[in-house]
Formats: sequence, structure tokens, C-alpha cells
Amino acid sequence: MKNILFPQLNGILHGGDYNPEQWLDRPDILEKDIELMKEAEINTVTMGVFSWSVHEPTEGNINFDWLADIMDRLYDNGIYTVLATPTGARPAWLDAKYPSAMRCDEMGVRNHHGVRHNHCMQSPEYREKVRIMDKALAQRFSGHPGLLMWHISNELGGYCYCDTCRQKFQEWLADRYDHDIEKLNKAWWTTFWSHKFNSFDQIDPPYANGENCVLGLNLDWKRFSTWSATDFMRFEIDTLHAAGAKEPTTTNYMEMFYDYDYHYMSQFIDVISWDNYPEMHNNRQSDSMHLLERSFNHALFRSLKPDQPFMMMESAPGVVNWRPYNKYRRPGMHKLISMQALATGSDTVQYFQIRKSRGSSEQWHGAVIDHIGTNDTRIFKEVASLGADLKKISEITGSLSDNKVAILFDWDNRWAIDDAWALSNETKNFDKTCMEIYNEFMSLGVEPDIVSSDGDWSRYKIICAPMLYVLHDGIGQKISDFVNHSGQFMATYFTGYVNKDLLANLGGFPGDGLDKVFGLRSEEIDTLYPEDKVTISIHDKASRSAHSVSVHDYQEMLRDVTAEVLARYENDYLEGTPAITRNTFGNGNAYYVACRTDQHDLEFLYREMLENANIAYTNLPQGVEKHSRFSDDVRYDFYLNGSEDSKTITNIYGIDILTGEEIDGTLPLNKYQGPNNKKGL
Ligand code: GLA
Ligand code: ZN
Repeated sequence: MKNILFPQLNGILHGGDYNPEQWLDRPDILEKDIELMKEAEINTVTMGVFSWSVHEPTEGNINFDWLADIMDRLYDNGIYTVLATPTGARPAWLDAKYPSAMRCDEMGVRNHHGVRHNHCMQSPEYREKVRIMDKALAQRFSGHPGLLMWHISNELGGYCYCDTCRQKFQEWLADRYDHDIEKLNKAWWTTFWSHKFNSFDQIDPPYANGENCVLGLNLDWKRFSTWSATDFMRFEIDTLHAAGAKEPTTTNYMEMFYDYDYHYMSQFIDVISWDNYPEMHNNRQSDSMHLLERSFNHALFRSLKPDQPFMMMESAPGVVNWRPYNKYRRPGMHKLISMQALATGSDTVQYFQIRKSRGSSEQWHGAVIDHIGTNDTRIFKEVASLGADLKKISEITGSLSDNKVAILFDWDNRWAIDDAWALSNETKNFDKTCMEIYNEFMSLGVEPDIVSSDGDWSRYKIICAPMLYVLHDGIGQKISDFVNHSGQFMATYFTGYVNKDLLANLGGFPGDGLDKVFGLRSEEIDTLYPEDKVTISIHDKASRSAHSVSVHDYQEMLRDVTAEVLARYENDYLEGTPAITRNTFGNGNAYYVACRTDQHDLEFLYREMLENANIAYTNLPQGVEKHSRFSDDVRYDFYLNGSEDSKTITNIYGIDILTGEEIDGTLPLNKYQGPNNKKGL
């Protein structure tokens, strides 16, 4: 098991966004930057992300000499380049001449020129300008020995409601519904409120002041927008390839990103990368809880391509400048956050940005090199010290995770839950529920992957599918097969209510045959106010006793229960009826949790599933995370202490790859410390 992303570098990438085009009149600074980069053990930069107006100052006058010169000089100094296509922002001349490049808002009104990420993904005029630019870039730079990969645009996001996109949406729908408008009417249930369409050209995007309560339309619009952004990204990739580019491609994703389905997009890029901006030391949660949110994101991105490492394409050295409160990371935290990325499967630690802009809106955003320009700032020293550590542990490059537990996470399920006129909009909390399940496994020293219902489950022994409201075609059978072949599967309230078109499953929930897998049907889902007091009694097999735990937000009434009952409601109108069940089905078990509790109260269940699946677990000290990566004959365990206190890990043997020292039984971890432990397999 080993998959090296960049053999020419053969080590961990350390670097980040670098904008020398802002300093072309200061050769002294550009020279100094290289010196400082080398001192900080920086071996890669990302260039060209927002360089269009320098690449092509007026229409047709493309000149990359400045970039070629800097790329060469960096390469001569051992620094590689990730080269971006500059399509995240446009020069003024382009919008002035081709207004269709600018996006229209949700009322259908055209934006003015400015900011960034506001382009129409379908504008033919914009596409043509992009094609010319990307072709020229590829012709000039592909094959350059210092070029590592292509970075497509920047943080693709958002929706465009212009006439071109409206028409593309209609075409996309016609394709999806076999050019049969009646098929669409049935899928969207448009007889309701007289919303029937006679032809595809009557259909609008869900304008804020238009048709936005046909739920099938809303969902298809998000699916279409995913397609549209992917289509744009693929257009850029195809253009690069057609002009001879051979290097791998990526586009930088964003945390828990809502607009597009990354499972769909990821089929078309070579490497997953994402921008990680933790909000450390905030006033809502402990650092270690916040770090777990980071881990969840890393797991989500890692799982998009589990057979290769991913990239942490951006992170802030020290501080960002766009939060309500922009607090600096305290000493030590930079290293911990960076080590966490590596621990979870990244082969890179990259920053936004290498040097601070002198002016404009990001002049106060953290950077490796501050305005003071010296190598003795706290941040520079922390970055340089990390750089030295990365060299010491470079052998982890290419090693991979090998997790046996997964949590199901579908973008369209997430959208559909939020858009459903049901439950309480205050407490649906799908993302949070997934994260809490992740945290419970993490506290037992077992890291889950985050996968889609349509994804490959073959490596997993345990799957948790919280609130799998939407069942794609074939998923009922897939779950049934998984359980039948010794899988441990957990579902919860609000599972299998609708099909992929959002039509309610008839004949009881969970639909698509899952009632048989779980041995029950759900008849009502009741929404609780925060003040409501409901409890269930859990029968603890080990102690043969029962204990009460609180229910909040949702409780389902179950019927036709043939499964074994593990917990019952204790009060209100469901008193005495089943609340948590286990159904032995084929060679596996299907668990159903009919109400929402604190995830910690379900620890007994997670332990039981782990035991059934023969997966070892242990109780980690609070605030400590453990991750593992594997190469051919070595296992690397990473223990990260995100808490304010010192912790000790016991029963641990191996070699600390940072210090080379042998670990013989115990591993003390100071506050924010994250050593790595190598163990021969
Ligand atoms: C995003 C962008 C960068 C920069 C950073 C600032 O991640 O991709 O260009 O604006 O935010 O945190
Ligand atoms: Zn558009």
C-alpha cells in the first residue's frame, strides 16, 4: 500500500499560494522571498491563481515571461510549482466587452464587474476566453520540470441564474427525463398546486421571486449546478490536455461545502485538495472538539479518493482576516493542525499565502512572510520548524489509511433534508449528526471514512447511515447485501422516506425493502421542542440492567417490529414502545435508532458493532486523536493532543519518527503535541 502523488519530489509538499505578480517592480523582494522560502524548507508554491490581468493586460496580449522567469528561478532553487488557471477572477476589460461572463443572481439580475468567483459557468463568450488562456498556459508550461500539477480555477462555487443557464437547465432536465415532460411532472408531483408543465422550456431556475417550492425542481437545480460547475472544470481540463498538458489536475475544495456534490465532481479530477481554515481558540467549543471537526473534513476529502493521499491546498499561517473575530493561533497549534492533515492522509501542508499582499482586502491575512519581511517572526519560525519536521517524517509520503468503518454522507440527501417541509428547521442538523457519530468512533480510537451511498463499500465492516432520507435506486438492495454478508449497519429515524425524486416511498418506511432488513416499520416521526422531556431506557446486555437516557429533537413511532428491542421509550405517548433495535439479518446485524439521543449515549451500540466486526478499540484520553496510515510494511500511528493538558498514551510500542527514539510502553504528549509513531507490521 503506497501511492506517491509526486515522485519527482518524493516527500511532503510544503508551501502555498504565492503571488509574485504583485511585486514585479520589487526584484529585491522576489529574491528575498526565495531565500526565506528555502530557510522555511518550502518546496512548492501555487502560482497564477488570480493572475489573469497580468497574463493578459489587454485582450489578446498574452505574456507569461514574468511567470516563466520566476518558475525557472524557483526550480533552480528546488521549489516546484502548482500552476493555476486564472479563471477565478477576471480583468475589467473582459467583463466590459463580454458581460455574459458575469453571473446573474437568484432574481436573474446580472452582477456588476468585480470581486471574484462570480462567473457564469456556461457563458460561451467566457468559455472562449478561458480556452484561449488555458491553451496558452498549457503550451507554454506543460512539461516544465518544475511544474507539479494544474490547479483548476479557485474554490468553484455558487449558482448562476442567467438566461443561458436557464436554457442549459432545461436541456439538462430534458436529458434526465428522456425528453418526456410527463415523466418530469410525475417525478416532481406537479399536479400539486397546479404546477404542471407542458414543455421543458417553461421551466425556470428556482428564482427567489419565482418557482421555488417544487421540491423536485429545487433538488434538480442543485444537481444541475453541480453538473454545470463540473462541466466548466472539465472544459478547463480538456483544454489543458488538448494543448499537451500531462501533469495531474486538481481543484481546491472547501470545508463542508454545500453548493455542489463533490462525489460527482471528483470523478473528473486526478487529485483531491481542500482549503482548511480552522477557527482555533473560539468561544463555542474546546480546541480538541474543533480539531475533530477538522478531522471529519479531512476524512470526507480523503474518502473521495481513498486509494491515494489528498492535499491540504490552503491553510492559514497564524490567522485569517475574514472571520467576525480573527484570533491568532497560539504557539504550537500550527504544527498540530499541520500534523493532523498528514495524520488523516494529506501529503501536503500548503498555505494561503507565502507573502502578504501589501494592499487590498487580504493585506492582513496571515502569511509565512509578514510585512516586516524577516525570518524571526513567531509565525515564520513556527513554519520553518514545521518544515524541518516534515523532512524528518517524509517517509510517510504515499502511505494510506485503511479504515473499516464508514459514515454515509450524500449531498442530495443533505439538500433534500434541509428543503423538506418537515421536522423543525431549527434542529435538522444532518451534518452535525454525522460529525457526532464520527467523534464517538474517534474517542474509541477508530477512525471512520465518509462515503456516499453510491460509493464502494467493499472495504467496510461497519456502516452508519444517519438520516438517510433519500434512497437512490438500488440502495435498499445494497444495504440488504451488505448486512447479509456480515456487515454491521446502523440507520436512524428519517431513513428511507423518499426515492431519488423525493417521492414518498409507499408501503412504509424505511422503503425499498429495508423494512425487512431492519425488521420494523416507522409510522410517525414526532418533533420535540427543546423543553420537551422524553427518555428511553436502554437494556445493557453486559450489566443486565437498564439505564435512562434523554431523547431530543426527534422520535419515531415504530410498528411491525420483529427485531430485537434494545431500548424502549419511557414516557409520553410512545411509552413502552421500541426505540432502538437490532435485527440479525443473514450474517450481519441491522441496527435502527428511532430517536435522537446524545451520540455518547449510543457508545454501547458502537462498541457492540466493533466487537461483532472484530475491530479492536480502546478508550483514548479525552482530547487526543489517533489516526493511522499504512505503507507496504509499516504502520504509522499519529497521536494528536488537542487539549490544554498533558496526556499519556499507554501500551504503545514503536519508534518516534520525529526523534528516532524508541517508545517502550508509554508516550507522554504535551499540550498541542502530535508525535508520530512507526510500527513494523
Ligand atoms: C480562500 C481562497 C484564497 C484566499 C483565502 C483566504 O481559501 O482560495 O484565495 O482568499 O481563502 O483565507
Ligand atoms: Zn449563467
